[in-house]
Amino acid sequence: MAFVTRQFVRSVSSSSAASASAKKITFKHVTVIGAGLMGSGIAQVAAATGHKVALVDLTEDILAKSKKRIEESLRKVAKKKFADNPEAADEFVEKTLSSISTSTDAASVVHSTDLVVEAIAENLKVKNELFARLDKFAAEHTVFASNTSSLQITGIANATTRQDRFAGLHFFNPVPIMKLVEVIKTPMTSQKTFESLMDFSKALGKHPVACKDTPGFIVNRLLVPYLSEAIRLYERGDASKEDIDIAMKLGAGYPMGPFELTDYVGLDTTKFILDGWHEMDVQNPLFQPSPILNKLVAENKLGKKTGEGFYKYK
Ligand SMILES: NC(=O)c1ccc[n+]([C@@H]2O[C@H](COP(=O)([O-])OP(=O)(O)OC[C@H]3O[C@@H](n4cnc5c(N)ncnc54)[C@H](O)[C@@H]3O)[C@@H](O)[C@H]2O)c1
Repeated sequence: MAFVTRQFVRSVSSSSAASASAKKITFKHVTVIGAGLMGSGIAQVAAATGHKVALVDLTEDILAKSKKRIEESLRKVAKKKFADNPEAADEFVEKTLSSISTSTDAASVVHSTDLVVEAIAENLKVKNELFARLDKFAAEHTVFASNTSSLQITGIANATTRQDRFAGLHFFNPVPIMKLVEVIKTPMTSQKTFESLMDFSKALGKHPVACKDTPGFIVNRLLVPYLSEAIRLYERGDASKEDIDIAMKLGAGYPMGPFELTDYVGLDTTKFILDGWHEMDVQNPLFQPSPILNKLVAENKLGKKTGEGFYKYK
C-alpha cells in the first residue's frame, strides 16, 4: 500500500512538474523600468543575450546618459569577447544597442511586453504607484519583477491584481559582471512564473538561486549584518578600519575588506537597508544603527560614488 502511494505521489508530482515546465513562459520582449545603475546593466545584459528591450525612465536626458553608459560597457565586453576580430566586436555592439528602445512612458510600452523588470528608486510608495498603473496597461500574461534590495516583494506585488505573476529578480552590481541573480518567490508567486524567471536568468548567462520573500533574501541578509558588525567593531575602538579590512582579506580570504566593500556598495544604501530592518525588528542587535555610519551619510560621504566614505578616492 505504502509502495502504491509512493508511486502515485511520484507520478503525480512528476507529471505536475512536467506540466508546470511545459507551460513556462519564454520572455522575448523585456521592459526595464529605471535606467540608473542597475536598470542600465539589466537592459544591457538582456539585449546582449538576444532579447528585445524597452528601457524606461523619467526623462530623455537620463535615457541618453544610460544608453551612453551601456555603449561604453558593451565596447569593453566586445573588446574581450572578440579580441582578434574588431569588425565582429563593432557588429556585436551595434546589434545589441539596436535591440534597446527607450521611452519616458511606461504605460505605452508594457502592453506588448512579456516581462517588466523594475529598477527604480528604493521606495515602497513609488514602486506601488508604478506597478498599480502598469497593471492596468500590461497584457494578461505579462510577468512583473522587482529588483528591490531591501523591500518585501509581497508588499510591492500587493499593488497589483497579478500576485501570481509577480516575483523578485535581484541582480548584483555591476550587472554585466556579477553572475548571481536571486529569484524571489512569494507565497502568491506561481510555480510557472518562478520557473520562467529561473530560465530567464540562465538565458542572461547568470546563475539563479531561489529564495523566499525574507528580508535581505540571501546575500544582503548575510552581508549587511557583517558590514555593520565591522563598523561597530571600529566604532568601539577594538581595531582600526585598515586592520579590520586586512584581517578579513588575509584571514578569511575575502577579496575586499568590509570598509572597502561598504564604500563600494554605498554608505547610504547600507544605512537604508539597516534602518529598514531596524524598524521591522528593533530587538535584533545585528540591525542596530551605527552612529559613525549615520554621521558619514549626513555629511554626504557615501563611499566611491561621492569620492569619500570610510576611505578617500581620487
Ligand atoms: N545599486 C545597487 O548596488 C543595487 C543592487 C541591487 C539592487 N538594487 C535596487 O535596484 C533599484 C534601482 O537601484 P539603482 O542603484 O539602479 O538606482 P539609481 O538611482 O541609479 O536609478 C534609479 C532610476 O530610476 C528612475 N526612476 C525613478 N522613479 C521612476 C519612475 N516612476 N519611472 C521610471 N523611472 C523612474 C530614476 O530617474 C533613476 O534613473 C533599487 O530598488 C535598488 O534597491 C540596487
